Amino acid sequence: MEWTREKRYLPYSKWDALTLLKLQSQAARSEYQLHYHIRPMSGLLNDPNGFSYFNGKWQVFYQSYPFGAVHGLKSWVHLESPDLVHWQNLGQAVLPDCDLDSHGAYSGSAKAIGDKLFLMYTGNVRDENWVRHSYQVGAFMDQEGNVEKIKEPLIKAPDHVTEHFRDPQILEHDGKYYAILGAQDAETKSGHISLYRAEKIEGPWEDLGYVDLPAMGYMVECPNLVFVDGKPVFIFCPQGLDKKVTDYQNVYPNMYWVGESFDFDTGHFETKQKAPINLDEGFDVYASQAFNAPDGNAYVVSWVGLPDMTYPTDEEGWANCFSQVKKLSLKHGHLLQKPVKAMKSLRSDKKPFAGHHLMDLGNQTEIKLDIHRGQEGTLTLAADEAGEHGIKLHFKTGNGASLTVDRGEAGEAVNPEYGTARSISLPENEDLSLRIYLDHSLFEIFIDGGREVITGRYFAPKGQIFAKMSKGVSYKGKSWKLKNM
Ligand code: FRU
Repeated sequence: MEWTREKRYLPYSKWDALTLLKLQSQAARSEYQLHYHIRPMSGLLNDPNGFSYFNGKWQVFYQSYPFGAVHGLKSWVHLESPDLVHWQNLGQAVLPDCDLDSHGAYSGSAKAIGDKLFLMYTGNVRDENWVRHSYQVGAFMDQEGNVEKIKEPLIKAPDHVTEHFRDPQILEHDGKYYAILGAQDAETKSGHISLYRAEKIEGPWEDLGYVDLPAMGYMVECPNLVFVDGKPVFIFCPQGLDKKVTDYQNVYPNMYWVGESFDFDTGHFETKQKAPINLDEGFDVYASQAFNAPDGNAYVVSWVGLPDMTYPTDEEGWANCFSQVKKLSLKHGHLLQKPVKAMKSLRSDKKPFAGHHLMDLGNQTEIKLDIHRGQEGTLTLAADEAGEHGIKLHFKTGNGASLTVDRGEAGEAVNPEYGTARSISLPENEDLSLRIYLDHSLFEIFIDGGREVITGRYFAPKGQIFAKMSKGVSYKGKSWKLKNM
Protein backbone atom coordinates (compact mmCIF):
# COMPACT_ATOMS: atom_id res chain seq x y z
CA MET A 1 0.00 0.00 0.00
CA GLU A 2 1.26 3.42 -0.87
CA TRP A 3 1.08 5.86 2.02
CA THR A 4 0.06 9.05 0.27
CA ARG A 5 -0.56 12.17 2.33
CA GLU A 6 -4.32 11.78 1.73
CA LYS A 7 -4.20 8.29 3.13
CA ARG A 8 -2.16 9.20 6.20
CA TYR A 9 -4.52 12.04 7.09
CA LEU A 10 -7.75 10.24 6.29
CA PRO A 11 -10.16 10.79 9.22
CA TYR A 12 -10.38 7.77 11.53
CA SER A 13 -14.11 7.45 10.77
CA LYS A 14 -13.30 6.63 7.13
CA TRP A 15 -11.37 3.49 8.06
CA ASP A 16 -13.31 0.28 8.46
CA ALA A 17 -13.26 -1.71 11.68
CA LEU A 18 -12.08 -4.87 9.95
CA THR A 19 -8.84 -3.24 8.81
CA LEU A 20 -8.11 -2.29 12.40
CA LEU A 21 -8.93 -5.77 13.71
CA LYS A 22 -6.65 -7.38 11.14
CA LEU A 23 -3.84 -5.03 12.05
CA GLN A 24 -4.35 -5.76 15.74
CA SER A 25 -4.23 -9.50 15.32
CA GLN A 26 -1.21 -9.26 13.02
CA ALA A 27 0.63 -7.21 15.66
CA ALA A 28 -0.42 -9.55 18.49
CA ARG A 29 0.92 -12.59 16.62
CA SER A 30 4.25 -11.05 15.64
CA GLU A 31 7.35 -12.94 16.77
CA TYR A 32 8.86 -9.60 17.63
CA GLN A 33 5.94 -8.69 19.87
CA LEU A 34 6.82 -7.37 23.33
CA HIS A 35 5.27 -8.99 26.38
CA TYR A 36 6.12 -6.76 29.32
CA HIS A 37 6.60 -3.40 27.67
CA ILE A 38 4.04 -0.98 26.34
CA ARG A 39 3.58 -1.54 22.64
CA PRO A 40 0.98 -0.41 20.11
CA MET A 41 -2.20 -2.46 19.65
CA SER A 42 -1.73 -1.72 15.95
CA GLY A 43 0.12 0.79 13.81
CA LEU A 44 2.74 3.16 15.05
CA LEU A 45 3.49 4.23 18.60
CA ASN A 46 5.70 7.20 19.33
CA ASP A 47 6.07 9.60 22.27
CA PRO A 48 4.87 8.91 25.81
CA ASN A 49 2.27 11.55 26.73
CA GLY A 50 0.44 12.52 29.91
CA PHE A 51 2.63 10.44 32.24
CA SER A 52 1.02 11.14 35.61
CA TYR A 53 -0.69 9.81 38.73
CA PHE A 54 -4.46 10.17 38.94
CA ASN A 55 -7.41 8.38 40.49
CA GLY A 56 -5.10 6.15 42.55
CA LYS A 57 -3.26 4.81 39.50
CA TRP A 58 -0.37 5.58 37.20
CA GLN A 59 -1.41 7.00 33.85
CA VAL A 60 0.37 7.15 30.56
CA PHE A 61 -0.71 7.68 26.95
CA TYR A 62 1.11 7.03 23.72
CA GLN A 63 1.13 8.92 20.46
CA SER A 64 -0.66 6.61 18.08
CA TYR A 65 -1.26 6.20 14.40
CA PRO A 66 -3.37 3.02 14.49
CA PHE A 67 -3.70 2.22 10.76
CA GLY A 68 -0.11 1.44 9.78
CA ALA A 69 3.53 1.79 10.71
CA VAL A 70 3.79 5.36 9.45
CA HIS A 71 3.50 8.82 10.97
CA GLY A 72 -0.07 9.75 10.07
CA LEU A 73 -2.95 11.41 11.85
CA LYS A 74 -1.99 11.15 15.53
CA SER A 75 -4.13 10.47 18.58
CA TRP A 76 -3.52 9.49 22.21
CA VAL A 77 -4.03 5.96 23.51
CA HIS A 78 -4.50 5.60 27.27
CA LEU A 79 -2.95 3.04 29.65
CA GLU A 80 -3.29 2.69 33.39
CA SER A 81 -1.24 0.80 35.97
CA PRO A 82 -1.28 0.04 39.68
CA ASP A 83 2.51 -0.33 39.89
CA LEU A 84 4.29 1.20 36.83
CA VAL A 85 4.88 -2.32 35.44
CA HIS A 86 1.49 -3.92 34.74
CA TRP A 87 -0.28 -1.66 32.24
CA GLN A 88 -3.80 -2.04 30.97
CA ASN A 89 -4.61 -0.55 27.57
CA LEU A 90 -7.84 1.47 27.82
CA GLY A 91 -7.93 2.49 24.17
CA GLN A 92 -8.24 5.81 22.36
CA ALA A 93 -8.44 8.85 24.63
CA VAL A 94 -7.69 12.02 22.66
CA LEU A 95 -8.81 11.98 19.05
CA PRO A 96 -7.93 14.53 16.34
CA ASP A 97 -11.51 15.60 15.97
CA CYS A 98 -11.76 19.39 16.25
CA ASP A 99 -10.54 22.55 14.53
CA LEU A 100 -7.67 22.91 16.97
CA ASP A 101 -6.17 19.44 16.33
CA SER A 102 -7.51 18.47 12.90
CA HIS A 103 -4.14 17.10 11.72
CA GLY A 104 -3.07 15.41 14.91
CA ALA A 105 -3.39 15.45 18.67
CA TYR A 106 0.35 15.81 19.18
CA SER A 107 2.40 15.34 22.33
CA GLY A 108 1.67 16.80 25.70
CA SER A 109 1.43 16.14 29.40
CA ALA A 110 -1.09 15.69 32.20
CA LYS A 111 -1.67 16.81 35.74
CA ALA A 112 -4.31 15.78 38.25
CA ILE A 113 -6.39 18.84 39.16
CA GLY A 114 -9.26 18.22 41.55
CA ASP A 115 -11.13 15.12 40.43
CA LYS A 116 -10.02 15.48 36.79
CA LEU A 117 -6.87 14.81 34.86
CA PHE A 118 -5.94 17.97 32.99
CA LEU A 119 -4.29 17.32 29.62
CA MET A 120 -2.27 19.92 27.74
CA TYR A 121 -1.11 19.02 24.26
CA THR A 122 -0.30 20.39 20.85
CA GLY A 123 -3.04 20.54 18.28
CA ASN A 124 -1.45 20.16 14.88
CA VAL A 125 -3.38 21.90 12.12
CA ARG A 126 -2.56 22.17 8.42
CA ASP A 127 -4.26 24.82 6.30
CA GLU A 128 -5.27 24.46 2.63
CA ASN A 129 -1.65 25.21 1.58
CA TRP A 130 -0.44 22.54 4.00
CA VAL A 131 1.12 25.22 6.22
CA ARG A 132 1.34 24.06 9.84
CA HIS A 133 -0.31 25.89 12.75
CA SER A 134 0.38 24.75 16.31
CA TYR A 135 -2.15 25.33 19.07
CA GLN A 136 -1.66 24.37 22.68
CA VAL A 137 -4.89 22.72 23.68
CA GLY A 138 -6.33 21.98 27.11
CA ALA A 139 -8.71 19.15 28.02
CA PHE A 140 -10.15 17.54 31.13
CA MET A 141 -10.41 13.78 31.48
CA ASP A 142 -12.81 12.47 34.13
CA GLN A 143 -12.43 9.26 36.13
CA GLU A 144 -14.36 7.32 33.48
CA GLY A 145 -11.96 8.44 30.79
CA ASN A 146 -14.28 10.94 29.08
CA VAL A 147 -12.26 13.77 27.58
CA GLU A 148 -13.67 17.27 27.24
CA LYS A 149 -11.59 19.72 25.26
CA ILE A 150 -11.49 23.46 25.96
CA LYS A 151 -12.77 25.21 22.83
CA GLU A 152 -10.18 28.00 22.69
CA PRO A 153 -6.43 27.32 22.52
CA LEU A 154 -4.62 27.90 25.81
CA ILE A 155 -1.63 29.27 23.92
CA LYS A 156 -1.25 30.46 20.34
CA ALA A 157 2.25 30.54 18.87
CA PRO A 158 3.79 33.98 19.57
CA ASP A 159 5.46 35.94 16.75
CA HIS A 160 8.97 35.12 17.91
CA VAL A 161 8.61 31.38 17.14
CA THR A 162 7.91 29.50 13.91
CA GLU A 163 5.17 26.88 13.49
CA HIS A 164 7.52 24.50 15.32
CA PHE A 165 6.14 25.12 18.77
CA ARG A 166 4.92 22.04 20.60
CA ASP A 167 4.95 19.39 23.33
CA PRO A 168 3.86 21.37 26.42
CA GLN A 169 4.75 20.02 29.84
CA ILE A 170 2.50 21.40 32.53
CA LEU A 171 3.99 22.14 35.95
CA GLU A 172 2.76 23.62 39.20
CA HIS A 173 4.93 25.80 41.40
CA ASP A 174 4.03 28.07 44.34
CA GLY A 175 0.33 27.93 43.54
CA LYS A 176 0.75 28.90 39.88
CA TYR A 177 0.81 26.88 36.68
CA TYR A 178 3.74 26.85 34.30
CA ALA A 179 4.29 25.19 30.96
CA ILE A 180 7.45 24.55 29.01
CA LEU A 181 7.39 23.91 25.27
CA GLY A 182 9.79 23.06 22.47
CA ALA A 183 10.24 26.05 20.18
CA GLN A 184 12.07 27.14 17.07
CA ASP A 185 13.04 30.81 17.16
CA ALA A 186 11.61 32.70 14.18
CA GLU A 187 14.65 34.87 13.60
CA THR A 188 17.55 32.49 14.20
CA LYS A 189 15.74 29.23 13.40
CA SER A 190 17.38 27.67 16.45
CA GLY A 191 15.95 25.36 19.12
CA HIS A 192 14.80 26.64 22.55
CA ILE A 193 12.53 25.82 25.45
CA SER A 194 9.71 28.33 25.94
CA LEU A 195 8.30 29.11 29.38
CA TYR A 196 4.69 30.17 30.16
CA ARG A 197 2.79 31.00 33.34
CA ALA A 198 -0.89 31.11 34.30
CA GLU A 199 -2.79 31.80 37.52
CA LYS A 200 -5.66 29.61 36.34
CA ILE A 201 -5.30 26.51 34.24
CA GLU A 202 -7.62 27.85 31.51
CA GLY A 203 -5.40 30.93 31.23
CA PRO A 204 -4.57 33.57 30.31
CA TRP A 205 -1.11 32.07 29.70
CA GLU A 206 1.71 34.57 29.77
CA ASP A 207 4.85 34.21 27.64
CA LEU A 208 7.92 34.43 29.91
CA GLY A 209 10.45 33.94 27.10
CA TYR A 210 12.96 31.15 26.72
CA VAL A 211 14.55 29.09 29.46
CA ASP A 212 18.09 30.21 30.03
CA LEU A 213 19.87 27.41 28.14
CA PRO A 214 22.03 27.80 25.04
CA ALA A 215 20.21 27.55 21.69
CA MET A 216 20.37 23.93 20.54
CA GLY A 217 20.22 22.82 16.91
CA TYR A 218 17.22 23.95 14.88
CA MET A 219 14.48 22.64 17.19
CA VAL A 220 14.01 21.19 20.65
CA GLU A 221 11.25 18.59 20.99
CA CYS A 222 9.63 17.14 24.09
CA PRO A 223 11.13 19.25 26.89
CA ASN A 224 10.62 18.14 30.51
CA LEU A 225 11.58 19.70 33.79
CA VAL A 226 11.82 17.39 36.79
CA PHE A 227 13.29 17.82 40.21
CA VAL A 228 15.62 14.97 41.06
CA ASP A 229 17.02 14.85 44.57
CA GLY A 230 16.06 18.51 44.81
CA LYS A 231 17.89 19.65 41.65
CA PRO A 232 16.17 20.83 38.47
CA VAL A 233 16.84 18.60 35.47
CA PHE A 234 15.81 19.37 31.91
CA ILE A 235 15.30 16.37 29.62
CA PHE A 236 14.74 17.19 25.94
CA CYS A 237 15.43 16.24 22.32
CA PRO A 238 17.55 18.73 20.42
CA GLN A 239 17.32 18.27 16.66
CA GLY A 240 20.32 19.21 14.54
CA LEU A 241 22.60 19.68 17.56
CA ASP A 242 26.24 20.19 16.59
CA LYS A 243 28.09 16.99 17.53
CA LYS A 244 30.93 19.15 18.83
CA VAL A 245 28.63 20.22 21.66
CA THR A 246 27.91 16.63 22.73
CA ASP A 247 28.62 13.64 20.54
CA TYR A 248 25.79 11.32 19.56
CA GLN A 249 25.23 8.71 16.89
CA ASN A 250 21.46 8.55 16.54
CA VAL A 251 19.67 10.77 14.05
CA TYR A 252 18.43 12.90 16.96
CA PRO A 253 19.53 12.55 20.57
CA ASN A 254 17.60 12.64 23.81
CA MET A 255 19.62 14.59 26.37
CA TYR A 256 19.56 16.03 29.87
CA TRP A 257 20.96 18.99 31.70
CA VAL A 258 21.26 19.10 35.50
CA GLY A 259 21.05 22.44 37.27
CA GLU A 260 21.53 23.91 40.73
CA SER A 261 18.36 26.00 40.66
CA PHE A 262 15.61 27.15 38.35
CA ASP A 263 13.72 30.43 38.61
CA PHE A 264 10.23 29.76 37.31
CA ASP A 265 9.46 33.44 36.76
CA THR A 266 12.58 34.53 34.90
CA GLY A 267 13.54 31.20 33.30
CA HIS A 268 17.01 31.51 34.82
CA PHE A 269 18.66 28.10 35.04
CA GLU A 270 21.73 27.98 37.24
CA THR A 271 23.98 25.09 36.23
CA LYS A 272 27.52 23.82 36.55
CA GLN A 273 27.06 21.43 33.64
CA LYS A 274 28.76 22.68 30.47
CA ALA A 275 26.90 20.70 27.81
CA PRO A 276 23.94 18.33 27.55
CA ILE A 277 24.51 14.63 28.30
CA ASN A 278 22.96 11.69 26.43
CA LEU A 279 20.12 10.22 28.45
CA ASP A 280 20.62 6.79 26.91
CA GLU A 281 23.79 5.58 25.23
CA GLY A 282 21.95 3.15 22.98
CA PHE A 283 20.26 3.15 19.62
CA ASP A 284 16.61 4.07 19.80
CA VAL A 285 15.58 6.19 22.78
CA TYR A 286 13.65 9.39 22.08
CA ALA A 287 10.97 11.74 23.41
CA SER A 288 11.30 10.59 27.02
CA GLN A 289 8.73 11.94 29.42
CA ALA A 290 9.48 12.46 33.10
CA PHE A 291 7.46 13.75 36.02
CA ASN A 292 7.58 14.25 39.78
CA ALA A 293 5.15 11.78 41.29
CA PRO A 294 3.21 12.13 44.54
CA ASP A 295 5.38 9.37 46.06
CA GLY A 296 8.27 11.84 46.01
CA ASN A 297 10.15 10.17 43.16
CA ALA A 298 10.88 11.29 39.62
CA TYR A 299 10.13 8.72 36.92
CA VAL A 300 10.91 8.61 33.22
CA VAL A 301 9.59 6.53 30.33
CA SER A 302 10.82 6.69 26.74
CA TRP A 303 9.74 5.99 23.22
CA VAL A 304 12.05 3.25 21.89
CA GLY A 305 12.03 4.33 18.28
CA LEU A 306 13.33 7.35 16.43
CA PRO A 307 11.76 9.86 14.05
CA ASP A 308 12.53 9.32 10.36
CA MET A 309 13.65 5.69 10.88
CA THR A 310 12.15 2.42 9.68
CA TYR A 311 11.98 -0.86 11.60
CA PRO A 312 11.52 -4.47 10.42
CA THR A 313 8.01 -4.72 11.91
CA ASP A 314 6.83 -1.92 9.59
CA GLU A 315 5.97 -4.72 7.16
CA GLU A 316 3.68 -6.22 9.79
CA GLY A 317 1.84 -2.92 10.18
CA TRP A 318 3.11 -2.00 13.64
CA ALA A 319 6.17 -0.25 15.03
CA ASN A 320 7.93 0.73 18.23
CA CYS A 321 7.42 0.38 21.96
CA PHE A 322 8.12 2.13 25.25
CA SER A 323 11.05 1.51 27.52
CA GLN A 324 10.28 0.25 31.01
CA VAL A 325 9.60 3.05 33.50
CA LYS A 326 12.78 4.10 35.28
CA LYS A 327 13.28 5.86 38.59
CA LEU A 328 15.62 8.84 38.51
CA SER A 329 18.22 9.86 41.06
CA LEU A 330 21.43 11.88 41.00
CA LYS A 331 24.97 10.92 41.83
CA HIS A 332 27.80 13.45 41.49
CA GLY A 333 25.68 15.53 39.11
CA HIS A 334 25.01 12.53 36.88
CA LEU A 335 21.53 11.11 36.34
CA LEU A 336 20.97 7.52 37.45
CA GLN A 337 18.10 5.52 35.92
CA LYS A 338 16.98 2.39 37.74
CA PRO A 339 14.24 -0.17 37.16
CA VAL A 340 11.30 0.41 39.49
CA LYS A 341 10.84 -2.03 42.40
CA ALA A 342 7.75 -3.69 40.90
CA MET A 343 9.87 -5.02 38.00
CA LYS A 344 10.85 -7.80 40.42
CA SER A 345 7.22 -8.99 40.44
CA LEU A 346 7.71 -10.22 36.87
CA ARG A 347 10.46 -12.64 37.89
CA SER A 348 10.12 -16.42 37.88
CA ASP A 349 12.46 -19.43 37.38
CA LYS A 350 15.58 -18.03 38.97
CA LYS A 351 18.72 -19.72 37.62
CA PRO A 352 22.41 -19.16 38.14
CA PHE A 353 24.14 -17.63 35.14
CA ALA A 354 27.58 -19.19 35.26
CA GLY A 355 30.30 -20.79 33.22
CA HIS A 356 31.15 -20.29 29.61
CA HIS A 357 28.75 -22.58 27.83
CA LEU A 358 25.60 -21.77 25.90
CA MET A 359 22.61 -21.16 28.19
CA ASP A 360 18.99 -21.30 27.13
CA LEU A 361 17.50 -18.18 28.66
CA GLY A 362 14.56 -17.51 26.38
CA ASN A 363 13.80 -14.04 25.12
CA GLN A 364 11.78 -12.68 28.01
CA THR A 365 14.55 -12.52 30.53
CA GLU A 366 16.38 -10.56 33.17
CA ILE A 367 20.08 -11.15 33.74
CA LYS A 368 22.23 -9.76 36.55
CA LEU A 369 25.98 -10.00 36.18
CA ASP A 370 28.98 -8.83 38.12
CA ILE A 371 32.09 -8.97 35.99
CA HIS A 372 35.26 -8.68 37.98
CA ARG A 373 37.82 -5.98 37.38
CA GLY A 374 40.77 -6.57 35.08
CA GLN A 375 38.83 -8.70 32.56
CA GLU A 376 38.24 -8.58 28.86
CA GLY A 377 35.61 -10.58 27.03
CA THR A 378 32.34 -10.82 25.21
CA LEU A 379 28.85 -11.62 26.40
CA THR A 380 26.56 -12.75 23.59
CA LEU A 381 22.82 -12.35 24.10
CA ALA A 382 19.93 -13.52 21.92
CA ALA A 383 22.49 -15.92 20.47
CA ASP A 384 21.95 -18.73 17.99
CA GLU A 385 22.72 -22.38 18.81
CA ALA A 386 26.33 -21.95 17.74
CA GLY A 387 26.66 -19.01 20.12
CA GLU A 388 27.96 -16.95 17.23
CA HIS A 389 25.26 -14.54 16.11
CA GLY A 390 23.56 -12.33 18.62
CA ILE A 391 23.85 -9.05 20.47
CA LYS A 392 27.51 -8.72 21.46
CA LEU A 393 28.63 -6.94 24.58
CA HIS A 394 32.38 -6.45 24.41
CA PHE A 395 33.79 -5.32 27.72
CA LYS A 396 37.11 -4.36 29.25
CA THR A 397 37.26 -3.80 33.00
CA GLY A 398 40.98 -3.10 33.42
CA ASN A 399 42.90 -0.13 32.02
CA GLY A 400 41.04 1.71 29.26
CA ALA A 401 37.79 0.18 30.51
CA SER A 402 34.88 0.25 28.09
CA LEU A 403 31.67 -1.42 27.00
CA THR A 404 30.57 -1.78 23.39
CA VAL A 405 27.15 -3.10 22.44
CA ASP A 406 26.97 -4.32 18.86
CA ARG A 407 23.64 -5.40 17.36
CA GLY A 408 25.10 -5.79 13.85
CA GLU A 409 24.95 -9.60 13.94
CA ALA A 410 21.79 -9.99 15.97
CA GLY A 411 19.40 -10.45 13.05
CA GLU A 412 17.65 -8.10 10.66
CA ALA A 413 19.52 -4.83 10.28
CA VAL A 414 18.10 -1.80 12.10
CA ASN A 415 19.05 1.50 10.47
CA PRO A 416 22.69 0.37 9.99
CA GLU A 417 23.62 3.67 8.34
CA TYR A 418 23.75 5.07 11.89
CA GLY A 419 26.23 2.39 12.97
CA THR A 420 25.63 -1.01 14.52
CA ALA A 421 27.58 -0.42 17.73
CA ARG A 422 27.52 2.00 20.65
CA SER A 423 30.41 2.35 23.11
CA ILE A 424 30.91 3.94 26.48
CA SER A 425 33.98 4.22 28.64
CA LEU A 426 33.87 2.77 32.14
CA PRO A 427 35.75 3.55 35.33
CA GLU A 428 39.09 1.75 35.07
CA ASN A 429 39.89 -1.31 37.17
CA GLU A 430 36.47 -1.58 38.77
CA ASP A 431 33.96 -4.41 38.79
CA LEU A 432 31.25 -3.96 36.19
CA SER A 433 27.65 -4.57 37.13
CA LEU A 434 25.09 -5.23 34.42
CA ARG A 435 21.34 -5.65 34.74
CA ILE A 436 19.93 -6.70 31.40
CA TYR A 437 16.33 -7.01 30.23
CA LEU A 438 15.30 -8.77 27.04
CA ASP A 439 11.75 -8.63 25.70
CA HIS A 440 11.71 -10.45 22.32
CA SER A 441 12.92 -7.48 20.26
CA LEU A 442 14.07 -5.02 22.91
CA PHE A 443 17.15 -4.92 25.11
CA GLU A 444 17.71 -2.58 28.03
CA ILE A 445 21.11 -2.71 29.66
CA PHE A 446 21.59 -0.93 32.99
CA ILE A 447 25.25 -0.35 33.74
CA ASP A 448 26.65 0.14 37.25
CA GLY A 449 23.34 0.84 38.99
CA GLY A 450 21.89 2.87 36.13
CA ARG A 451 24.79 5.27 35.68
CA GLU A 452 24.39 4.50 31.99
CA VAL A 453 21.61 2.77 30.11
CA ILE A 454 21.97 1.28 26.64
CA THR A 455 18.63 0.58 25.01
CA GLY A 456 17.91 -0.81 21.57
CA ARG A 457 15.67 -2.89 19.38
CA TYR A 458 16.91 -6.11 17.74
CA PHE A 459 15.16 -8.45 15.35
CA ALA A 460 16.64 -11.92 15.64
CA PRO A 461 15.42 -15.05 13.83
CA LYS A 462 13.25 -17.42 15.86
CA GLY A 463 15.27 -19.60 18.22
CA GLN A 464 17.97 -17.06 19.03
CA ILE A 465 17.35 -17.43 22.73
CA PHE A 466 20.73 -18.37 24.11
CA ALA A 467 23.38 -16.47 26.02
CA LYS A 468 27.06 -17.10 26.45
CA MET A 469 30.02 -15.60 28.26
CA SER A 470 33.36 -15.86 26.49
CA LYS A 471 36.03 -18.17 27.91
CA GLY A 472 38.20 -17.20 30.82
CA VAL A 473 36.04 -14.36 32.17
CA SER A 474 35.63 -14.33 35.94
CA TYR A 475 32.12 -13.20 36.89
CA LYS A 476 29.02 -13.99 38.94
CA GLY A 477 25.50 -13.99 37.62
CA LYS A 478 21.88 -15.03 37.79
CA SER A 479 18.89 -14.87 35.52
CA TRP A 480 15.09 -14.99 35.65
CA LYS A 481 12.34 -15.61 33.18
CA LEU A 482 9.95 -12.69 33.18
CA LYS A 483 6.17 -12.99 33.10
CA ASN A 484 3.91 -11.10 30.74
CA MET A 485 2.75 -7.81 32.14
C1 FRU B 1 8.44 13.81 18.72
C2 FRU B 1 7.27 14.46 18.00
C3 FRU B 1 6.71 15.61 18.81
C4 FRU B 1 5.31 15.70 18.30
C5 FRU B 1 4.95 14.25 18.10
C6 FRU B 1 4.01 13.97 16.98
O1 FRU B 1 8.62 12.50 18.35
O2 FRU B 1 7.67 14.90 16.73
O3 FRU B 1 7.46 16.81 18.70
O4 FRU B 1 4.46 16.34 19.20
O5 FRU B 1 6.18 13.58 17.85
O6 FRU B 1 3.65 12.62 16.94
